[in-house]
Amino acid sequence: MSKPLKELLKEEREAEASRPPAPVPEPAATAKFTEKDVSLELCSPRSEKSMQVSDFTADSDWSFDLQRLAPVSEEAEKKTTAEKDSDSSKNEAAIPSVKSTESEESSGTSEKSESDELAKSASISPEKCETPPTGKVKLRSNDETPESVAMPGVLMKNQSVDPDFFKDLDVKELSPVGTAMVEEAWERLKKSFVYYRGKPVGTLAAMDPMAEALNYNQVFVRDFFPTGLACLMKDPAEPEIVKNFLLKTLHLQGREKTIDNFTLGEGVLPASFKVLYDSHRAKETLVADFGGSAIGRVAPVDSGFWWIILLRSYTKCTHDYALAELPEVQKGMKLILNLCLSDGFDTFPTLLCADGCSMIDRRMGIYGYPIEIQALFYFALRCAMQMLKPERDGKELLERIDKRITALSFHIQKYYWLDFTQLNNIYRYKTEEYSHTAVNKFNVMPESIPDWVFDFMPLRGGYLIGNVSPARMDFRWFLVGNCIAILSSLATPAQATAIMELIEARWEDLIGEMPLKIAYPALEGHEWRTITGFDPKNTRWSYHNGGSWPTLLWLLTAACIKTGRPGTAKKAIELAETRLSKDGWPEYYDGKTGRYIGKQARKYQTWSISGYLVAKMMVENPSNLLLISLEKDKKIAKPRLTRSTSM
Ligand code: GLC
Repeated sequence: MSKPLKELLKEEREAEASRPPAPVPEPAATAKFTEKDVSLELCSPRSEKSMQVSDFTADSDWSFDLQRLAPVSEEAEKKTTAEKDSDSSKNEAAIPSVKSTESEESSGTSEKSESDELAKSASISPEKCETPPTGKVKLRSNDETPESVAMPGVLMKNQSVDPDFFKDLDVKELSPVGTAMVEEAWERLKKSFVYYRGKPVGTLAAMDPMAEALNYNQVFVRDFFPTGLACLMKDPAEPEIVKNFLLKTLHLQGREKTIDNFTLGEGVLPASFKVLYDSHRAKETLVADFGGSAIGRVAPVDSGFWWIILLRSYTKCTHDYALAELPEVQKGMKLILNLCLSDGFDTFPTLLCADGCSMIDRRMGIYGYPIEIQALFYFALRCAMQMLKPERDGKELLERIDKRITALSFHIQKYYWLDFTQLNNIYRYKTEEYSHTAVNKFNVMPESIPDWVFDFMPLRGGYLIGNVSPARMDFRWFLVGNCIAILSSLATPAQATAIMELIEARWEDLIGEMPLKIAYPALEGHEWRTITGFDPKNTRWSYHNGGSWPTLLWLLTAACIKTGRPGTAKKAIELAETRLSKDGWPEYYDGKTGRYIGKQARKYQTWSISGYLVAKMMVENPSNLLLISLEKDKKIAKPRLTRSTSM
């Protein structure tokens, strides 16, 4: 079967749009996922011929950003209609269906180069939105679509970066270094496979012969995510390991989880697990860590979310709907979500977390409502909506999910968003406002805005800040939360574009010499002492405290492709290619620009390897994005975002 990609994307949009407003099915309805996703089969990203960025054509519809790839390419812009026509024939992509594996267990650029124009359109501050969504506000593409997806000359106006820096690159050309690295990466990835009773079930976190293993000889759930994606994006796909991983971790969820006489929630998934040979019983067993052995004794909040998101990617790739429909898989999803959706004292739809409950698994002042967890929560909720069957209690759960998605997206889009205008608003906030008319709802003291933000914030661009809670806004930049917000469409299209503009405008700070900074800026001095508790591993510009993590390359690449900026991803990948393999695929780099291999970084870190592979496969075949990206949820009413005229 062969269909042009544009058509496939259109069908995907239509499939999404045809989703009923509320997930209230007929009592006897069969799995919603199966029915709805029949059309998604047509959108299989697997293609015989690798699709190129330049194969895409511009489309005014914002709802799928892949179609906006063309305008970023100067090449593409110069193309005559005739050339475009001939190109469009290249879009023909054969889509062989990937065999389902059997279940083994019972179980516009309107070149506005004037700087005042630039400043005018810079802000998408949600200040104007004072009322919660009513379900009736329709986003107008004019409101949401920044005129310029790529304006290299303009973008750099207040930056110190070479104006030609972000010129789109021809992604068809593979450097010899890249080709050799890709081969090496696959070889190393294969070697990291962990087998349980003869089947691959995950990958070791690292294979550094020179360093003490600690728990790096375990399969980490979050670390496996890019590896799982790599196996799914591979042509032909290798979904078996992903399926086994999903089922084995689910099995571990069923274990009793007790730490010092206290039992954790039933739905918690482990941070990591390992295979042990039990010589008594002469068989292999799986041993899981739910936080009971982890440094700091914190349970991972992100594991369950990554698991749900990976399940959707797996299903999307293989069309093996049977896996998601298994009763135990349905139950597993429900248990994960029940942990997060239970009623309590919360006045926010965001999820309250302990420090160290995610990729940053040490004390780093991310307790409260960290953006990474909120974005993953939103992503997982939306994936679950596609996969949960509405039978029995399912219907009620789907309704709760639906409501939470609406409330969560409103809260994040409005209260976490920071751009030039919003920063200025906060700077001028009044405090001690009482009643529902308060503008400064959380009573944030303007004095708490750190000095660095004023310099860091470009006129054009913005981001979702690290954390929002009473009298506390953590203004730090965290890459995972922002990119996940783009991929899941938690960020509005205008916000997504602004986030990418910020990354480009602050390239030196956020990418530097080695992609990518996990957080910015680093905590130093007194702040480091009080917030990290004198953590010697998290000294300034090291590890989680402003270190640079190559694994994040896949996330940046996916966000770049979704927002029509493949050239930016390519630039970051090329940077990584100058050193990553030579340096032995380190876990992280240290220093303000990420120049130094991390103090305690493991070498041959698996997710550095798979993150690179996924980035490569996405940039070479952008349709791979469909495995991981979600369209904006059309039925979620969003705050009406208007361009600021404050400048
Ligand atoms: C470190 C990281 C964590 C990762 C683990 C295994 O603990 O902080 O995010 O999952 O190593 O690579």
